[in-house]
Formats: sequence, structure tokens, C-alpha cells
Amino acid sequence: MTDLFSPIKLGDLQLDNRIWMAPLTRSRATPERVPTPMMTEHYVQRASAGLIIAEATNVALRSNAWECTPGIFTAEQINAWRALVDEVHQAGGKIALQLWHGGRVAADSREQPDPPLSPSGVNDNVEAITVWGRDEQGIFRKKTACPSRAMTGAEVEDTIAAFGRAARAAREVGFDGVQLHAANGYLPHQFLSPYLNRRTDAYGGSPQARAQFALQAMRAMIAEFPAGRVGMRISPFTTFNGALDPDPIPTYRYLVDELARHGMGWLELADTNFWAGQFDRDQMLSLTRPVFDGPIIANGGIDPQTAQTLIGNGSIDAVSFGRLWMANPDLPERIRAEGPYHKAITKRFYGGGPDGYNDYPTLAQEKSLA
Ligand SMILES: Cc1cc2nc3c(=O)[nH]c(=O)nc-3n(C[C@H](O)[C@H](O)[C@H](O)COP(=O)(O)O)c2cc1C
Repeated sequence: MTDLFSPIKLGDLQLDNRIWMAPLTRSRATPERVPTPMMTEHYVQRASAGLIIAEATNVALRSNAWECTPGIFTAEQINAWRALVDEVHQAGGKIALQLWHGGRVAADSREQPDPPLSPSGVNDNVEAITVWGRDEQGIFRKKTACPSRAMTGAEVEDTIAAFGRAARAAREVGFDGVQLHAANGYLPHQFLSPYLNRRTDAYGGSPQARAQFALQAMRAMIAEFPAGRVGMRISPFTTFNGALDPDPIPTYRYLVDELARHGMGWLELADTNFWAGQFDRDQMLSLTRPVFDGPIIANGGIDPQTAQTLIGNGSIDAVSFGRLWMANPDLPERIRAEGPYHKAITKRFYGGGPDGYNDYPTLAQEKSLA
């Protein structure tokens, strides 16, 4: 029977197991968005994941989401990623990069004085936006988002091209794949939402038009990476960051149909509403499973036992764990041993140093201490 430890293929890429690491923003890059040695250590520690999907990474300067999140648009950033990817490969790991544009999810910053870009400059629900940055003391805190303005047609085209440039850089530094972050109310999701996207050009209006931004960004990525190594993360039913949509099904059915037609490698379903106690996994699966024929990865509030059941009965192909990977760098080994599992320290989620980031012990370290 297929289980969490069964190998899986992504295009031409063979993965050792189905215990993937979900993308996790930890704000441990420099203020200039350059990946740090601390991040290298973090991912090397987690090289036993079937696939690491490395944290949301800004594709352009105008993606001004959370501070100290990495970018992949300057030479310095790209070189730092090269060193990180090399070390993960030397440790036997496989690593993909999540490509990100925050759009309206942005706070005032020293780096980028212009207003953030969004599909239509809808600002009547900015209080719904979650964005973190440093206060005057350098401590990471939730900040108030600032109003965005509508993108021009040229800015839309340039931002789509930025996803292609980022994918090319990711391939050149050796990443095994790239994933478009189209979930959780960031820019591609903002285009999908009829509340945030009120455009009257080719990117707004009908469900098909609202899906164009995500589709074209995906196409730009596929032009740089084999399609089987390109993925997308979606969360059709969440209203996180104010991406409201009273009827997401027609838009997402069209989107997923097109993704399948392009031979995209994997689809990750983020069950973001589980944080509020509502699980959308079943409705996400009935929306996508009949249409998308590649691997489907479930994420959000899933424990290892449930993961085994879902993979064993063929509902999904792999699971990406978030907080379990944060706190358990040897997660596959712990799953084999049926635990115990450490819990991630919430206060250390964003910003700061290696504490609460790289100091969670492995089972072997615990045993030798005992
Ligand atoms: C600290 C933190 C950072 C996150 N960063 C990202 C991110 O960069 N990209 C993303 O798509 N989701 C991000 N998420 C969502 C996680 O990938 C995942 O969906 C969430 O943790 C639920 O999965 P879990 O129950 O296995 O932890 C983040 C979540 C947390 C708690």
C-alpha cells in the first residue's frame, strides 16, 4: 500500500518520500532580502523531506511583503541561494522555491516608499491584511497595512515577467522546482478574487479573465523550468488577507483545468480556514481531483496519522507539513518512531536569530543527551 514513505515522481524528479515541508516564512533573511547562513542550516537540517518547498520569496522589489523575507531578484540574493541549494543537495535533500508577490499585503517600509501594487487598489478592507515587520526597536510585530494602488497594464505584464525571471534564476542556482504562491490573499489570489479585482481589461471581469494573472505567471515559469517541476499553491475558500470570493468554484475549476492542460507538476491545497476550525479539504479535493491529473498535495492542520490514511486511500499523493517541520528537523524519522513531536514556538515564528529556528533537537540528539 502507498504510504508516507513511498517514493513519488515529479516529472523526471524522483522524491524519496511524501513527507514534504510546506513553505514557511521565517523572516531570517537580511533587510536587503539576502538569504543567510542561518537559513542554509535550517534547510540542511530538514534535508530528509521528500521535497522542501522553501519559503515565500519575493520576485521583484515591488513585492514588498513582510520584512526580512528573501528575494531572488538581485545578484547578491541569487548567489546566496546558490550556496544554500548546494548545501541542501550535498545533504541529500531536494528543494523547490515558492515564488511570491505580496501585492496589497504590505506595510510602510524604508525600502519601498511607493504604495504597494494591487489589481484594483481596493482599500476598504486593509484591516483584514496580515503583515509583519520590525518596530523601532527592531522587534517583529504585526503592522498596519498601507493602502495600495491599481496596477497599470504595463505593471501587470512586468510582474508576470518577474515570475519568469525568478524561475530562471531558481533554475540557474540549482533548485529542483518552483511553486507559484497563488494562495492566502497574495497577488495572484488578489487577481482571482472578484472583490479585490475589479479590472475591466483582460485580467478582470469573468472567472476566466480573473484567472489570467496566475495562469500567465505559471506559463512564464514553465518557459524556464520543465512543467513537471512547476507547482502552484491555492486556497480557494479562504478569505485570509481579505481575498473575498462568494463563488470561487467556476474560477478555480477553469484555473485547475488549464493547469492540467499545461502539464503543471503538482498542486498544493492549503487549507487555510482550518486555523479558524473549518476544514475545507474535502471541498478542495472535489474541486481539483477530478480535473488535475498530477500529484495533489494536502496541507493544513494534518497530523501524521491522518496523512497516512489520506495517502493510503488515494485521496491525495503527498502531505506538506508546516509547524511539524519547524519543530522536528527529523520529521520522517519521528513519524516512523510514532513520535514524540515537539511543538513550534509561536513567538519565534518571524524574525530574530537561530533560537526557535535551528535549535530543535533530533531524536538522536535527545537520546545522546539522555
Ligand atoms: C510561521 C509561518 C509561516 C508561513 N509561511 C508561509 C509561506 O511562506 N508560504 C505559504 O504558502 N504559507 C505559509 N504558511 C502557511 C503554512 O505553509 C501552512 O499552510 C500552515 O502552517 C498550516 O500547515 P500545518 O498545520 O502543517 O502547520 C506559514 C505558516 C506559518 C505558521
